[in-house]
Amino acid sequence: MSSNFSVTPWEVKGKVDYDKLIVQFGTQKITPELKERIKKITGDLHVMLRRDVFFSHRDLDLVLKDYEEGKGFFLYTGRAPSLGMHIGHLVPFIFTKWLQEKFKVNLYIEITDDEKFMRNPELTLEQTRQFAYDNILDIIAVGFDPDRTFIFQDTEYIRNMYPLATKIAKKLTFSEVRATFGLENSSNIGIIFYPALQVAPTMFEKKRCLIPAGIDQDPYWRLQRDIAESLGYYKAAQIHSKFLPPLTGPEGKMSSSIPESAIYLTDDPKTVERKIMKYAFSGGQPTIELHRKYGGNPEIDVSFQWLYMFFEEDDNKIKKIEEDYRSGKMLTGELKQILIDKLNKFLEEHRAKREEAKELVNTFKYEGKLAKEMWNKIHE
Ligand code: TYM
Repeated sequence: MSSNFSVTPWEVKGKVDYDKLIVQFGTQKITPELKERIKKITGDLHVMLRRDVFFSHRDLDLVLKDYEEGKGFFLYTGRAPSLGMHIGHLVPFIFTKWLQEKFKVNLYIEITDDEKFMRNPELTLEQTRQFAYDNILDIIAVGFDPDRTFIFQDTEYIRNMYPLATKIAKKLTFSEVRATFGLENSSNIGIIFYPALQVAPTMFEKKRCLIPAGIDQDPYWRLQRDIAESLGYYKAAQIHSKFLPPLTGPEGKMSSSIPESAIYLTDDPKTVERKIMKYAFSGGQPTIELHRKYGGNPEIDVSFQWLYMFFEEDDNKIKKIEEDYRSGKMLTGELKQILIDKLNKFLEEHRAKREEAKELVNTFKYEGKLAKEMWNKIHE
């Protein structure tokens, strides 16, 4: 299918048409009926579900059925560690935390220090391990259940995963992996094997696995679903999110390597203010007079999109902001100020929790209830 956007695990280009992507990837839309079913169990719906940030799925209906029938399920998500996490990276983690809280299930978080190292010629393994430690603090700060969460780094947990990974690897051919990930003859052989390691955690339990993640990770799950049953496991279920757009405009996704496109979790209040005021792409008119007359366009305004997708949870407030901006009553500067205040409050709280997370790294990685169990298990 030809389109003027593309989504792969490594990059997102153009303005993504999410309805088209559902067709391209062969996933299912999250329907109002499915949301109602979730709400019956959870009591309320997370803002990212209400507002269709999580918009697509595979087998979420079967996950709910398993849950209702008492078979249960487990959650799995992950992160390829980088120098600093940006606000977009938190989207799947924040939502996963909500799912864990509501369903009281185990969660596995894979930190792919190996993937990051092998994909980036300029990085050393020492660096990606350092990034892993740093990113784990941000992930713990989101507030997962320490008894039900295991955070593991590939280069450390490999012994326990290796037998399972070899079985997975044997089922995947080079031509499939090459076609799925666009590998070339010059690709190093580590990266050819790596998909087996991203698939392995979907088989950590003999229950259905639900993966909350950005939709860019979907190619891995397509491979998983082709082979899981032949290994005696369930096809992985997924719940996919849209991308928080880069500050610089509604196209692509935020990139760690383009500082003006992102707000980092370490950005101080002045930096946040400067970046939003300077770079946040505006749907407003060029002059105040024109803006008052014609109003702004929230659909392309990145500040509005960030408030809608993440930072303004109150449905009445976001509706009022949208109306006022569209009508021209609210100016771009005022809209940006709302976002700056919300962001700085969020980041201040996040940084406090990040400090506390330093005491919890051992629990999540080695000493917690689930972590201990996992270190005693060899996955076959
Ligand atoms: P990584 O580190 O690129 O991304 C981590 C998670 O963040 C999501 N994401 C975003 N979500 C919303 N808006 C954005 N702008 C944005 N940018 C990134 C990604 O979709 C992802 O869910 N190979 C993986 C690491 C991994 C993994 C997993 C991810 C290993 N196992 C299982 C998800 C589930 C990676 O490079 O993620």
